[in-house]
Amino acid sequence: MNIVLYTRRGALSFMVTPEKITIVVEDEGQGIPDIDLAMQEGYSTASREIQEMGFGAGMGLPNIKRNADELEINSVVGVGTTVRFTVKI
Ligand SMILES: Nc1ncnc2c1ncn2[C@@H]1O[C@H](COP(=O)(O)OP(=O)(O)OP(=O)(O)O)[C@@H](O)[C@H]1O
Ligand SMILES: [Mg+2]
Repeated sequence: MNIVLYTRRGALSFMVTPEKITIVVEDEGQGIPDIDLAMQEGYSTASREIQEMGFGAGMGLPNIKRNADELEINSVVGVGTTVRFTVKI
């Protein structure tokens, strides 16, 4: 959903092995200026319109962190963001 809400375009890749699932979410867009802030529960820049659609609780990234075994976020402001996470099976 973050691709739809905050970026111009993006792509999801899934790599599945018997040991783990790796998901890579790569986008072109505004980027995340402060990743530590974006990781805080409840932090969101979602507009009222986005909130009215049921998004914008500021829980997406913290929930990925809680449920994934590994999480890596790389972002360049004005260029885009890559979120990569792994779940061990
Ligand atoms: N791919 C992205 N590109 C630019 N900004 C992003 C991206 N992903 C997250 N953000 C920023 O980080 C904030 C927190 O993201 P997060 O997914 O945790 O919460 P949310 O999308 O605001 O709400 P929820 O996921 O609960 O619907 C967003 O509000 C937005 O400002
Ligand atoms: Mg989100």
